[in-house]
Amino acid sequence: MNTGGGDAPGLNAVIRAAVLSALKEGWRVFGIENGYGGLLADEPGEVVPLDREDVRGITHRGGTILGTSNRGNPFAWPTTGPDGSTVDIDRSDEILEAFREHELDALIAIGGDGSLQIACDLARKGLPVVGVPKTIDNDLEATSLTFGFLTAVETATDAIDKLHSTAESHRRVMVVEVMGRHAGWIALFSGLAGTADVILLPEIPYDIELVAEKILERERRGRTFSMVCVAEGATPIDGEAVTKAVPRGTGSQTRLGGVGEVIAQQLAERTGKEARSLVLGHLQRGGTPIAYDRVISLRFGAAAVRCVARGDFGSMVSLDPPEVRAVPLTEALASRKQVPVDGDAVATARALGVSFGD
Ligand code: F6P
Repeated sequence: MNTGGGDAPGLNAVIRAAVLSALKEGWRVFGIENGYGGLLADEPGEVVPLDREDVRGITHRGGTILGTSNRGNPFAWPTTGPDGSTVDIDRSDEILEAFREHELDALIAIGGDGSLQIACDLARKGLPVVGVPKTIDNDLEATSLTFGFLTAVETATDAIDKLHSTAESHRRVMVVEVMGRHAGWIALFSGLAGTADVILLPEIPYDIELVAEKILERERRGRTFSMVCVAEGATPIDGEAVTKAVPRGTGSQTRLGGVGEVIAQQLAERTGKEARSLVLGHLQRGGTPIAYDRVISLRFGAAAVRCVARGDFGSMVSLDPPEVRAVPLTEALASRKQVPVDGDAVATARALGVSFGD
């Protein structure tokens, strides 16, 4: 098994359940370190045997004991060209070859949309794969939840609760930027739970003038502070999502991020109030998974082993309450699961007076 893409609370619980279930079948289990890197001799990481004692006491631990990577796509592996530039090359055949050399019979690939797309492409090349959906963004179709999402929501809600103290005491506008990529699930759920006054989502383009008007309207009612929860992928009606360059080696890569600061600046100018922003960033991916995420993770790990036992390959385990089922990977990857703008959660927020800036 391997873990790919960004870490998420619950990865270790999946690993533990999969290892213990597989050992019970009488199988030997191996972990591929650092995504697919452990299968390639010139990359850090190895293929390591996983036994009962290797997964002892890890259910509650954040991160992944196998390590992960969001740069290890075997179909577009970044290598350094002769002139020092980065060139992506296809190393998928090497992965299949290494898989055979290690005498592995099946792969449980735990990851988000990127990692599961890789798993799907490897399945097309004949690798027997079962996917396990992971991402704090909760943006995968065909599963009602991904593990890690609810823990991220808990972290973001806690932050919004704490920021209320300063917002209220200093009569400020506080803008909290949360993760989620191009889906607004974390912003919507934590904004609702933390009683934000404004929630900005990628799914609902915002007009900054309407956001400012909401804050001024609160001011007129004697509410001298406001809390804005913005998804990193939120976009204004007349513009694009905000991105920034983050350092990687001597170069950089582009990531979503920075919209919170832009909004704080714009709101300060339009309302005359003091406005501050906070980016929660990777705090949302770390720490102890909450109990429900642990339970989903353990169920996913055990279900993935049942899929392997049945020979149900090219599939992904999925939560379809109250059951965990298997769905074809192609179905799971067909589209991104975004917040339905006419759905109940958005309607609830609107009924409570939350502004989406529209
Ligand atoms: O997909 C999970 C996620 O945390 C997103 O919410 C975020 O945009 C992205 O990963 C950040 O990735 P990285 O850690 O590579 O900057």
